[in-house]
Amino acid sequence: MTKLITVLNGPNLNLLGQREPEKYGSKTLADVASEMEALAPELGVKLLFLQTNSEGTLVDMIHEARQTSAGIIINPAAYSHTSVAIFDAINTFDGPVIEVHISNIHKREAFRHHSFVSARAEGVIAGCGTHGYSLALRHIATLV
Ligand code: DQA
Repeated sequence: MTKLITVLNGPNLNLLGQREPEKYGSKTLADVASEMEALAPELGVKLLFLQTNSEGTLVDMIHEARQTSAGIIINPAAYSHTSVAIFDAINTFDGPVIEVHISNIHKREAFRHHSFVSARAEGVIAGCGTHGYSLALRHIATLV
């Protein structure tokens, strides 16, 4: 059976393309989803692409992935830097986790340099723009 990869996007990423394009680029989240959907068949995986602005919903989405998914790609956005709840949830997931940041969080404000999720992720991609999502998909497909 084709393995499912859940792609989770945290707060404000619904505004991708409009929000601070000098940092996050001009592509929308729908553009990112389409690029990943186009790539998935050649990598032999299926995708579930989700976004929420709510921390609790992100926790629920991770719990759901426990039942449905072989791997998780996650851009927790601002919750990367603040959320023990998301760290605890991601620790209940058995498969590989790849964390994506569109911008290079290490080149930005000090409060963005630490991500709770990084301590659990198999890999972290930061600063490659929205291309980081496709890079993450290529890598996670080799792990599941
Ligand atoms: C981000 C970086 C975070 O610091 C920020 O809060 C975001 C987006 C990124 O993709 O570069 O919302 O995760």
